[in-house]
Amino acid sequence: MKIAFAGKGGVGKTSLAAWMADLLARSGHNVWMIDADTALSLGQASGLPAGALPEPLVRRADLVRERIHAGGFLDLNPDVGDLPETLAVDVPLGGAPLPGVAAGRKRLLVMGAVTNAGGGCACDANALLKAVLAHLVMDRDEWVLVDLEAGVEHLGRGTVAHVDGLVVVSEPSMRSLLTGAEVGRMARDLGLNNQVLVVNRHAGGEVPDLPGLPERSILMPPLPGLVRRQMTDASVLALPETDIVDAALTRVLALLGG
Ligand SMILES: Nc1ncnc2c1ncn2[C@@H]1O[C@H](COP(=O)(O)OP(=O)(O)O)[C@@H](O)[C@H]1O
Ligand SMILES: [Mg+2]
Repeated sequence: MKIAFAGKGGVGKTSLAAWMADLLARSGHNVWMIDADTALSLGQASGLPAGALPEPLVRRADLVRERIHAGGFLDLNPDVGDLPETLAVDVPLGGAPLPGVAAGRKRLLVMGAVTNAGGGCACDANALLKAVLAHLVMDRDEWVLVDLEAGVEHLGRGTVAHVDGLVVVSEPSMRSLLTGAEVGRMARDLGLNNQVLVVNRHAGGEVPDLPGLPERSILMPPLPGLVRRQMTDASVLALPETDIVDAALTRVLALLGG
């Protein structure tokens, strides 16, 4: 199954993707984590030191040109099935596997983004992400979790076309929920109806029923252990609240049909 995480900046997309990947691997599943954000932080949130991060795929200009512009035109469905195996790095688990379970493998692939400064075109990065998603799992029983860029702007470019489930992440604030509603609406327009809202850092109060928000939702409380930890450590794994996090993510997976 392929699940993407979307929402406004700073709401917890990367943390939730890292938590879900770790839960799945500790439960015995193999997981591909795809960092499709410009901030390149999914690896660090999963406990990888900066020096151990894989090279962003789009920086391999040779590969991008070769696969996307093969034959001198924009190939919207290039064969990139071999790239994840070659470029991904293994990520250690944040904790012991569940009792009686052989741990799965967690691997990280960093897409990166082509910025204007580099003279490239973001459509290259998006075409490549779409191609990787299309070719990655098809006939393998593996999980793919995609940590998307903040906001809604990139959603229209087909990045959700090959995803089976969307986690819309929001803070418990009207502005953040409005972005979440826009994300939900755009993804639904693209045919992705399997959506769950995670209201992160929820500390009380009713979540307003805005049109566009996913109908199914879960609440994630503020985690004091993470607040303390993040001053000195980029990892969001192995928290004192891991039981709370695992329970919430188990519920998200159940709602998405995983
Ligand atoms: N439930 C939570 N409780 C406390 N801190 C959190 C919680 N969820 C996320 N954070 C912190 O909030 C910050 C933003 O989270 P992050 O996952 O990077 O958001 P995004 O990927 O949406 O920009 C990080 O410092 C993260 O550790
Ligand atoms: Mg992020």
